[in-house]
Amino acid sequence: MEAILTTTNPFKITHHHHHHHHHHNNNNQSFSSNATLPSLSLKPLPLSLTFKVTNTYTWRYSSSHSLRISASSQAAPTSLETSTSSAIPTEMKAWVYGDYGGVDVLKFDSKVSVPEVKEDQVLVKVVAAALNPVDGKRRLGKFKATDSPLPTVPGYDIAGVVVKVGSQVKTLKEGDEVYGDINEKALEFPKQFGSLAEYTAVEEKLLALKPKNLDFIQAASLPLAIETAYEGLERTGFSAGKSILVLGGAGGVGSLVIQLAKEVFGASKVAATSSTGKLDFLKSLGVDLAIDYTKENFEDLPEKFDVVAM
Ligand SMILES: NC(=O)c1ccc[n+]([C@@H]2O[C@H](COP(=O)([O-])OP(=O)(O)OC[C@H]3O[C@@H](n4cnc5c(N)ncnc54)[C@H](OP(=O)(O)O)[C@@H]3O)[C@@H](O)[C@H]2O)c1
Repeated sequence: MEAILTTTNPFKITHHHHHHHHHHNNNNQSFSSNATLPSLSLKPLPLSLTFKVTNTYTWRYSSSHSLRISASSQAAPTSLETSTSSAIPTEMKAWVYGDYGGVDVLKFDSKVSVPEVKEDQVLVKVVAAALNPVDGKRRLGKFKATDSPLPTVPGYDIAGVVVKVGSQVKTLKEGDEVYGDINEKALEFPKQFGSLAEYTAVEEKLLALKPKNLDFIQAASLPLAIETAYEGLERTGFSAGKSILVLGGAGGVGSLVIQLAKEVFGASKVAATSSTGKLDFLKSLGVDLAIDYTKENFEDLPEKFDVVAM
């Protein structure tokens, strides 16, 4: 894995109108929530805009496992490697906790079993993973009753490369660059072996091909946060010409609600709240009215909004 980030690394989305036709003929660009996203290009924001980064770890290692064997510039091999499975180890590095608790329970373990692939799953070599607030709540044991058994490898969001496919997998194949949220339901039996690992097993239906205009790190930052943002807008029936007030607009979810409302749903007006230091960030996302919640009470605003995201 090259990097781990949190949803608190906001990205700026630019809507490419001229790419509109692309997403109609590529179902793989959609999220598991049936939300079909148009092609988006994301600009990483300066690091100074990253905040509340808790439990963030970054490490690099050089992989000795080549995903695809290309012999084009070499002498013809005597026996062709037809499967990459032989390059997949049985053990891997991962972050694990064996008990619920604070950050201290997280341990780096270099001998975690590489997950088995069920028939509808693929094995992904994780290139980047992201953490969300739910990972911290889960680690604290806040939804023990419906959690998977301990020990837990946390992490929902990934971007990586498919290295193995289950027998019932229909469209994905080895070598595909994919991204997604590996858990169909956030709070009901999320996977025991999550994304903060070298490999993770995921149902094919939960993954999409990584858009070419996103690198792995950018792609991994999106799934759970943008699903949340997109589904929220869909559930309120948000549509072109409507106005919206986004509370916590500078956060992972809030910054995506702003950009989707504006660039994808065609909002007539987007207002958002943040603390003082993030007002310029809100404006850079295209917010029409940036409200400093440390100085103003949004409830006192004379304006009315069709939707309030909070
Ligand atoms: N990330 C997900 O995928 C996801 C999924 C489902 C639900 N959620 C929930 O959605 C919420 C936001 O998640 P997130 O990932 O976007 O978190 P986040 O990136 O940490 O954003 C939280 C935002 O809340 C603002 N904030 C913090 N304290 C505040 C206060 N006292 N008054 C007003 N604003 C305050 C912060 O901005 P300032 O610094 O400007 O205050 C920050 O921008 C969380 O409750 C999370 O559990 C998240």
